[in-house]
Amino acid sequence: MSSANASSELFAHEESSQSWLDRKVGELVVEDFRRAHVFSQFGIDFCCGGGKLLSVACERAGADTGAVVAALNSASLANGKEDESNHLPLAELIDFIESTHHQYIRAKGPLLIEYSEKMVRAHGKEHDEIIPFAGLVRALVEDLMPHLMKEEKILFPAIRSLSQGEQVNGCFGHISNPINAMQHEHEEAGAILEQLHQLTNDFTPPPHACTTWRVCYATLAEFEADLHRHIHLESNILFPKALVLAQ
Ligand SMILES: [Fe+2]
Ligand SMILES: [Fe+2]
Repeated sequence: MSSANASSELFAHEESSQSWLDRKVGELVVEDFRRAHVFSQFGIDFCCGGGKLLSVACERAGADTGAVVAALNSASLANGKEDESNHLPLAELIDFIESTHHQYIRAKGPLLIEYSEKMVRAHGKEHDEIIPFAGLVRALVEDLMPHLMKEEKILFPAIRSLSQGEQVNGCFGHISNPINAMQHEHEEAGAILEQLHQLTNDFTPPPHACTTWRVCYATLAEFEADLHRHIHLESNILFPKALVLAQ
């Protein structure tokens, strides 16, 4: 291969890497939901932080951009690549979010609090991380409960009206106001989860952990995965489409 060809191939490769890095994380997941697995693997926030460019998100997560781009390139794009939720009418997407993800938080949130408080009673005195851990779990769940209520009672009905071509005359002014408020609350939930990751070595129970401790961390990992999917549907799909309808 001539050096000119080699350098043009190198340039093409760099350009393609850059084209990944210059795109928003949330948009990449909307295009192919399996990219969410790549982002999770590298600790990149694709839901609360979905509005960030991939280059910025990699820097924030301390992830090597070359490795992330390579993983994205190797994630298959052959079949069923697009997030089907992107094609649902907004009213159906809201029904799905409420019946699946809101229901999940209402079922699992109290259980998480119960497990973490049991850990405090059994091991809180010997292990310094358990009391702050239980406090963060409680804060996460207790912040999410009114968040669900605000979406169900205020924002989602307004988006349903918009999707039917009706005017929205809420006490909140423009619909961007409640959307911004909900996005802010998503970011707060993401920040609590980040603290929980740090406190628990990414939800890894120590060798001496009892069964409740192990079940609690496993449930929290599942809870986080569900919350990521939930916030992705709202922040990257539902809210941007509602803002377009409101224009
Ligand atoms: Fe929600
Ligand atoms: Fe939400």
